[in-house]
Amino acid sequence: MKFLSIFLTLIMWATTYFPQQAEKYFPDKDLTTVGVYYYPEHWPREQWERDIKNIAEMGFEFIHLGEFAWTFFEPEEGKYDFTWFDDVIKLAEKYNLKIVLCTPSAAPPVWLSENYPEVLMVDENGITQRHGSRQHISWSSIKYEMFLEKINTKLAQRYGRNKNVIGWQLDNEPSHYGRYDYSDETRKHFIEWLKVKYTSVDELNKVWGTAFWSIRYQNFNQIRIPNQKELVQQVNPHALLDYKRFSADEAAAFLSKQYRTLRKYISDDQWITSNFMDQHMNVDPYRNSDLDFAAYTMYPVSGYRDGKGEQGFRLGPVEVISFASDFHRGVNGVTGLMELQPGQVNWGIYNYQPYPGSIRMWLWNAFAGNCSFICSYRYRQPLYGYENYHYGMVGPDGVSLTPGGKEYKKFISEIKDLRKLDITNAEIPIEFSAKKIAMLWNADNIWDTDYQKQTCEWNGLRHFIKYHSLLKSLVVPVDIINESKDFSAYPFLIAPAYQLIDKSIVERWTKYVENGGNLILTCRTGQKDRNAHFPEEPFAEQIHNLIGAKISFYDFLAYERRGKIKTGDDLFEWNIWGDIIIPDDGTQTLAVYNDQFYKNETAAVTRRLGKGTVTYIGADSYDGKFEKSILKKIYRNAGLSTMDLPEGLLVEWNKGVWVAMNYSSTEVEAPVSDSGKIIIGNKLLKPAEVVVWQDKN
Ligand code: GAL
Repeated sequence: MKFLSIFLTLIMWATTYFPQQAEKYFPDKDLTTVGVYYYPEHWPREQWERDIKNIAEMGFEFIHLGEFAWTFFEPEEGKYDFTWFDDVIKLAEKYNLKIVLCTPSAAPPVWLSENYPEVLMVDENGITQRHGSRQHISWSSIKYEMFLEKINTKLAQRYGRNKNVIGWQLDNEPSHYGRYDYSDETRKHFIEWLKVKYTSVDELNKVWGTAFWSIRYQNFNQIRIPNQKELVQQVNPHALLDYKRFSADEAAAFLSKQYRTLRKYISDDQWITSNFMDQHMNVDPYRNSDLDFAAYTMYPVSGYRDGKGEQGFRLGPVEVISFASDFHRGVNGVTGLMELQPGQVNWGIYNYQPYPGSIRMWLWNAFAGNCSFICSYRYRQPLYGYENYHYGMVGPDGVSLTPGGKEYKKFISEIKDLRKLDITNAEIPIEFSAKKIAMLWNADNIWDTDYQKQTCEWNGLRHFIKYHSLLKSLVVPVDIINESKDFSAYPFLIAPAYQLIDKSIVERWTKYVENGGNLILTCRTGQKDRNAHFPEEPFAEQIHNLIGAKISFYDFLAYERRGKIKTGDDLFEWNIWGDIIIPDDGTQTLAVYNDQFYKNETAAVTRRLGKGTVTYIGADSYDGKFEKSILKKIYRNAGLSTMDLPEGLLVEWNKGVWVAMNYSSTEVEAPVSDSGKIIIGNKLLKPAEVVVWQDKN
């Protein structure tokens, strides 16, 4: 009982206390503030004042300092030197720049790795990761935690009451860049984590299904970190799922401990966040709702993910900033873009020049996604080091503005002008908020479906993001939430490929619908229990009564083979996943397969339940056209009209204004209403152009 009440208090704290806390740091009237990374340790002292003065003259409002400067703060163990840094802080004050400081945990000094090799991470081949780059330390190392606590305490004591310091970033892109840690200490922590979770090895054997292939363990100490490199055949999926959960927990704890150290000393007016790396699935920012909020980093043009159309490779994909903003804001109601690409980068597979205007468009996109601040990575192009081809706001001479620098400057002055209009009292338009939808997130679903893909075309995150962009193309407000949140605040709720479920979530979904909510489930939902087992019952029986249909079987087609689906008179293509559905009496078929041996069998269903509706979309396509047609129908049936933006156009509402951004390679018209008052730009948008307008009431 006592635990229950503590648990409930914690949940209330996480859902109500933190968001209010985070909002207090960012007054609405600022709209957003723009800052830039600066590395004084890379430049001669004589240039600091010139650089900082120029940063201020460009209009930046804060500078970001110190995430890789540990070796200069503590050149020898226990010997500290902050005097040089004090001078930088004073210069920032002199030019009215606010400051974001960092904990330097991503880049320890050489003496630490040399003298205490037990802090180092070990890769899947057993190779200890060494000093010479960054993020080579283990999140599980107790010794490292001790050193960190010392340096973080020093920094917090020295700058935690400085009125110009507005906030702190923990670590830098905590992610190990997608790699996993196989060190002895990590293994020890994993075993402890498993003991707490399962209490007995018998229970673990049951949940991990170790009767399969004679994997059965006799005691916890026999357990190794699942590692494909040391196994002849595939890793046990249950062991792997637990390891991914554990590893994300370790990353979260690594940040939480640093948060607690800083909080002991710093003022309540300073916020603490981390700059999570966009789309690195070994870390889960939703596990860190104990930070004030989650921020993220963003590089849209690097050859890894092209946008659409002829110039899409220079414009970046339309969905990335929009998704990352909604995703990270979901953690605690506030987000910030801590690093935004300044121009050409150096680490991509193709380091293209961004399309002229696109950097300003990304900045507007971040504002439109309600980022409370946006920070450029970085001010000066470095002259040496791995990133010396990486653009900054100024080029190698340290003074000439790059094209990106000019676009930042323009955006900053536009935002400052917009502030003068005092638009923030505007209420979110009613017909827009009536369409509000929450997307339900649980990393377990991605981890498990991605390991047991069934088709190489499957990608759990891509599936989730596809639904996010389809919804954005209908111009509906989207929040991303996890199960700790109350669903009833949302007229629409979608759980994409929500594979791992239990009775309690089905009950919550059912109540939500009975009370008037519109629930949408997509393929692969409800197939397994939370341990990733199939329940001993017909396939997907867990959601049978909720969706009013059975899933008879599933199929997929190779990339070059597209199946057809018919809804009404419209024909669409699919290939990634197809659930073949048998509707119960009273459940309406929305679409049927139009070829293969299951021609005319059902691909999507809907039904009323209580005051609401449930829709199940069983087929998944590359182009998303089929899924979009169903989403439109759901809104139409609820009496709400949606827009249908052309590919590459993005329209968002934030703090009293609409913003339309053209990520397509052709000219498009933004849906500015007849009564709309344009503040910036024109209704006709060339590629990378932006229009900002206000609804007149
Ligand atoms: C980020 C990283 C920065 C810098 C930047 C270069 O991913 O956090 O420290 O390396 O990339 O684009």
